[in-house]
Amino acid sequence: MSKSIILLTISCLLWFAPARAEQVGAQIYDNQCKSCHGSEGLALDTPILHGQEPAYIVKSLQAFKKEIRKDQIMGSMNTIAASLSLDDMKAVAHFLAGQDSCDIKLEIDYSREGFRDEFSRGRQKYAESNCSHCHSSFHHYAPRIIGQKPGFLTRALEQFRTGERVAPMMPNLLRSWTDDDYRNVVSYLSGMRLMRACGSGH
Ligand code: HEC
Ligand code: HEC
Repeated sequence: MSKSIILLTISCLLWFAPARAEQVGAQIYDNQCKSCHGSEGLALDTPILHGQEPAYIVKSLQAFKKEIRKDQIMGSMNTIAASLSLDDMKAVAHFLAGQDSCDIKLEIDYSREGFRDEFSRGRQKYAESNCSHCHSSFHHYAPRIIGQKPGFLTRALEQFRTGERVAPMMPNLLRSWTDDDYRNVVSYLSGMRLMRACGSGH
């Protein structure tokens, strides 16, 4: 084989390898994840994964696979993650990280009575509690939670409070919170979706 053919082959491989991983990731998502995590699963308390940190997605899938984290909502994540190889996890995480979370047709009723008040109290509580120290900088693998579904946030916080979901820092931080604090912070975090990223069409 001549030198130029070898070089051509190598550059084709380099060109196709990431494209293939992208395709594999999209396929896994369409066939195995979309029904629960996409707009189709809006009514379920599943987390939105579009635009999530890829390393957090991989870490969570590994935790489900090893049963360090249990899917407390439907029990499905443990079985699904067990069937994925590390390469599958990386491919789907890479695909999801590149998706726009505004494509998930989540609607928040901003005109609901009390929303504005909850939002501003929630913003204050979130700032006082220094939550963004980890959640805005991926410190300690803390996931993005701004714009997350309110139903999932409420459940996740409740699971930390009761100890059903184990995470080293979360229970201590939330110990002194009242029910109102939880509700306000959830309204703030989910409400930030419209204010920041998705425009007024959402
Ligand atoms: C039958 C519904 C269902 C399907 C299908 C499903 N999931 Fe999930 N997934 C859930 C639920 C419910 C949770 C929340 C579990 C909990 O926190 O107790 C979850 C949580 C997750 C989390 C944790 C995210 C976070 O913010 O903590 C990741 C990552 C995830 N799923 C990835 C996937 C991937 C990748 C697929 C496809 C290979 C998939 N899921 C398929 C229901 C599903
Ligand atoms: C010291 C770092 C740190 C701080 C500060 C912190 N968190 Fe977290 N948080 C984490 C980590 C790490 C996880 C992921 C745990 C896991 O992998 O299951 C997490 C997970 C979460 C989740 C679940 C999200 C998901 O997608 O599964 C919510 C909701 C959350 N935190 C809210 C908060 C709130 C509200 C505050 C402020 C009181 C806060 N966190 C402060 C580190 C932190």
